[in-house]
Amino acid sequence: MQKETILIIGSNGQIGTELAEELKKIYGTENVICSDIKEPKNQVAPFEILDIMDKNRMYFILKKYNVTQVYLLAAMLSATGEKNPKFAWELNMQSLFNVLDAAKEKLINKVYWPSSIAVFGPSTPKQNTPQYTIMEPNTIYGISKQAGERFCEYYFQKYRVDVRSIRYPGLIGWKSAPGGGTTDYAVHIYHEALKNKSYACFLNAETTLPMMYMPDALRATIDLMQADADKVKIRSSYNIAGVSFNPEEIAASIRKHIPEFTISYQSDFRQSIADSWPQSINDNEANEHWGWKAEFDLEKMTDDMLTNLNASYISKN
Ligand code: NAD
Ligand code: SER
Repeated sequence: MQKETILIIGSNGQIGTELAEELKKIYGTENVICSDIKEPKNQVAPFEILDIMDKNRMYFILKKYNVTQVYLLAAMLSATGEKNPKFAWELNMQSLFNVLDAAKEKLINKVYWPSSIAVFGPSTPKQNTPQYTIMEPNTIYGISKQAGERFCEYYFQKYRVDVRSIRYPGLIGWKSAPGGGTTDYAVHIYHEALKNKSYACFLNAETTLPMMYMPDALRATIDLMQADADKVKIRSSYNIAGVSFNPEEIAASIRKHIPEFTISYQSDFRQSIADSWPQSINDNEANEHWGWKAEFDLEKMTDDMLTNLNASYISKN
């Protein structure tokens, strides 16, 4: 087992819930400290209440546990962010500054901070979107992620802060609920298919977006964090590709397991957010620099999601 002490900030969320489990397997339960602004639904230990806007409390926790690495997952996502743009900007930026400053002051050795496909905007090429391209995001979430990327690279270049980042696509998993993004429909749809055999989608049928199954996203995150520093040549954030599909295609994949499943469409304000994002991602750099390759396609993901969700519903009843 490798000796690191890790602090996850925002550990109750969609990614944190699953990432904590994986990191505990690698580093040991006692060496992965979970933290969030609120208590978790299921008890985890060690756990600390932390509002990441409170820099003093974060420093206290870093020193208390001799933390070596921070995974900063607290953020306001795309859909929620549009409802409160000023607060989304403050949370998404101040949280990053607090953690980057702790690394600059050598309290910690390594930082993980996720970016998003939301850094791209309507003027970005939509197909096979390259690592380096036009980036004019028009959501507050995307603007904060793009600014965050620039600051990560700046702290690396100016202060040698070892910060690593991935532009996640929309993430889909069965163990945890999504937290207010535009891609959340691709998780809700599986739950509704099992519970009600129908789903009213808030994006229209042809809205293709880049997505990824959670086991792939967790592997990418841990592989990047464990890569030798000289292989991490991009210190803003890496494109990674998983699978691209639209609501009609995910519905068709569900129908192979639940033939009576139906989908209807009632698009809302999230449609324009989705329309501003790429449809597919080129991840050549991540592949060449640290060997990234996705494993799950749509059919494999649907099979795994429905099998595991079904089992978890049966065990709860
Ligand atoms: P989430 O909303 O599910 O979880 C965020 C967690 O942060 C929540 O548990 C929340 O309670 C906590 N939090 C909020 N404010 C806090 C504060 N002030 N102090 C401490 N904790 C606070 O989000 P997620 O989906 O797990 O995303 C984690 C990161 O990954 C975010 O930066 C997000 O932008 C990024 N990301 C996620 C996706 C995705 O599809 N889930 C895609 C791209 C990027
Ligand atoms: N899944 C995220 C969202 O929709 C993408 O960053 O906000």
